[in-house]
Amino acid sequence: MTTRSQTQKSQRSSMTAAWRPVVAAVLLAAAGAAGAAKVVSGPTPYRVSDNCAICHGMHGASTDYNVIPRLAGQHKAYLVMQLKQFRDGHRADQNGNIYMAPVAQGLTNGEIDQVASYFAKQRPRFQASGVHHAGAKAGKAIFMNGVTSEQIPACMECHGANAQGASTFPDIAGQRYRYIVQQLKYFHNGARKNVLMNQIAKSITVPQMKEVAAYLSSL
Ligand code: HEC
Ligand code: HEC
Repeated sequence: MTTRSQTQKSQRSSMTAAWRPVVAAVLLAAAGAAGAAKVVSGPTPYRVSDNCAICHGMHGASTDYNVIPRLAGQHKAYLVMQLKQFRDGHRADQNGNIYMAPVAQGLTNGEIDQVASYFAKQRPRFQASGVHHAGAKAGKAIFMNGVTSEQIPACMECHGANAQGASTFPDIAGQRYRYIVQQLKYFHNGARKNVLMNQIAKSITVPQMKEVAAYLSSL
């Protein structure tokens, strides 16, 4: 007889196992592309200066409000996907609904492409504030190894060993502390929907969220 927890465990490990080859291929392709990439800084799109800059800063590196994510250097495919999700109401967590839905509803597909390209090209990437949050060491262990007893997989399996992500897997290295904690809470309680992250964040505790955020925001 299979217990409930065994079933959950095998479902969860088969879920991450199924993703492994895809993720590995995506990360590898991105590593190849990174060497050849040339940063072309074109003109600032009107939408950015007129709108996004108010909250995210002209270069996507605002430190004004701690629930606002860095966008500088984030993967274009991920940015496009999130903007479309805010626009169609799929990403409807509280801060997304209040701040991003009205913005995204005013964007055409062409504008989404343009602003996502712009933020993806911004260098340098967001610079960590230098504020150290407690628990970074424990957070690194969660990131690298997961928590076997709680069936939390290693974050690096999908986000990469340096948390750099690729394509629609976000770069979370140097992402802002408060924002990371908030998103993990949203994934945990289902307010932000994503098949993979909802499963992963199911059993993560608030102290563990803070530890992993302390590690990631220090990168
Ligand atoms: C009124 C403030 C505000 C404005 C204006 C704004 N944003 Fe945001 N943005 C936010 C907040 C707050 C979040 C976090 C939402 C959440 O927690 O789900 C966010 C999240 C995002 C995300 C998700 C990033 C991630 O890592 O998942 C993207 C992409 C984004 N904004 C792009 C833009 C673009 C492009 C514009 C201009 C067209 C813009 N934003 C204008 C406040 C703003
Ligand atoms: C099976 C693959 C997978 C694993 C393992 C994984 N993630 Fe994710 N993660 C994703 C994907 C895909 C997204 C993008 C979700 C979306 O599109 O909304 C994401 C999004 C996130 C975000 C939101 C980033 C942003 O800019 O809004 C955070 C934070 C995050 N993951 C943290 C973690 C942590 C911490 C762990 C380990 C406990 C982890 N992830 C493990 C696939 C994974």
